[in-house]
Amino acid sequence: MKRLFKGGRVVDPATGRDGRFDVLVEDGRIGRIATDIAPADAPGATVVPVPAGGIVCPGLIDMHVHLREPGQEHKETVASGTAAAVAGGFTAVACMPNTTPINDNAGVTAYMLRKAAEANLARVYPIGAVSKGSAGEELADIGELHEAGCVAISDDGKPVATALLMRRALEYAGMFGMPVIDHCEDPSLKGEGVAHEGYHASALGLRGIPNASEEIVVHRDIVLAGLTGAAFHVAHMSARGSLDAVRYGKSRGVKVTCEVTPHHFVLTDEALRDPVPYDTNVKMNPPLCEAADRDAMLQGIVDGTIDAIATDHAPHHADEKRVEFDRAPFGIVGLETAVPLVFDRLVHPGHITLRRMVELLSTNPARILRLPGGTLAEGAPADLTILAPDLPVAIEAARLRSKSKNTPFDGWQLRGGVAATIVGGRTVYVNDAVAGADALGA
Ligand code: DOR
Repeated sequence: MKRLFKGGRVVDPATGRDGRFDVLVEDGRIGRIATDIAPADAPGATVVPVPAGGIVCPGLIDMHVHLREPGQEHKETVASGTAAAVAGGFTAVACMPNTTPINDNAGVTAYMLRKAAEANLARVYPIGAVSKGSAGEELADIGELHEAGCVAISDDGKPVATALLMRRALEYAGMFGMPVIDHCEDPSLKGEGVAHEGYHASALGLRGIPNASEEIVVHRDIVLAGLTGAAFHVAHMSARGSLDAVRYGKSRGVKVTCEVTPHHFVLTDEALRDPVPYDTNVKMNPPLCEAADRDAMLQGIVDGTIDAIATDHAPHHADEKRVEFDRAPFGIVGLETAVPLVFDRLVHPGHITLRRMVELLSTNPARILRLPGGTLAEGAPADLTILAPDLPVAIEAARLRSKSKNTPFDGWQLRGGVAATIVGGRTVYVNDAVAGADALGA
């Protein structure tokens, strides 16, 4: 299959391209990129006009999602999660191992990959567990997980339990070139906490989680990454002290990278009370922090300390969320709201350029996880996201593709969205709301 995408603005930090280019896709790969490719020079190619104002970038990669299959299919399945991914502009997702059973062996990894092949939408890159059953005691068979197709290891949902386990995880994962992704949290400080320890949690009578719970483990892991020389990635960073630690680690040459979620650079713990007090759709782990933390995350995005934006897409069924705040599970869905939030809160106000947006959502996740995408270099997989920067987007929870609708952004009006998503040269999602996007399905 040959397709010639004509007339878009190509933004690809990996190759340094930013400008009008035509993109020829052949047999699932990028064949050629040039300022003007005449159809006569691409015999047999279907010409696909990019809608006016459309940005063509390397397919977005969400390096932190929960697909819930196997075991929690009432929340999400690989099929529904990857449908949500492509609707959100993601051509690939890395999925966390806290399924039931935990992805701590090749059998579970193979099962996920089979489900992903059946769904045939976004690419799925499983992340294996650090420890057997994520119980924090015995290392999982990391070589087996790597061979089965895992791209990193993590006990996400829980921190890597001890410094010794983290040290061994870094040593083993490092041998296979995989990072260890840690959900940084000190369980003794988190205790029974359900919200950020601060004014708003106190006012509502909710038990608090101090920033120190995250910061301590980020510090510990940076020290261990330094000791072992292996790569450590901070999952869903939320606290300003953690960012300082990452800055310090990077300045000392430690292989540390980090991600932030849209909810942590958009919302603060004020959302615990306003507009709806005790809304369980603002309960996530780590919790929404204070304005100073949110602003630090913005600063880290702007100055380059933060490497990636990842959603921590954490679907939970409405029946599980419709309970008292204390009892609700942590997490919100994020795949279909990330791009509009990034455009509306980061790009349009002038905090970051489009190039930096693509770096955070594609180039860097591919680099950290060593994935084949993240670039539109000739010969790379033809995974493309076509963005519509000025598209008005009204978030409607009920209309999300995800099986779960647990978002605090229901009813938000944002500017900037996705026109189409192309995986291996094949269009897997077209947004009907974009004028001219139907041609992208051809
Ligand atoms: O809010 C969260 N939800 N944080 C996590 O670390 C886990 C996730 C989940 O699996 O629901």
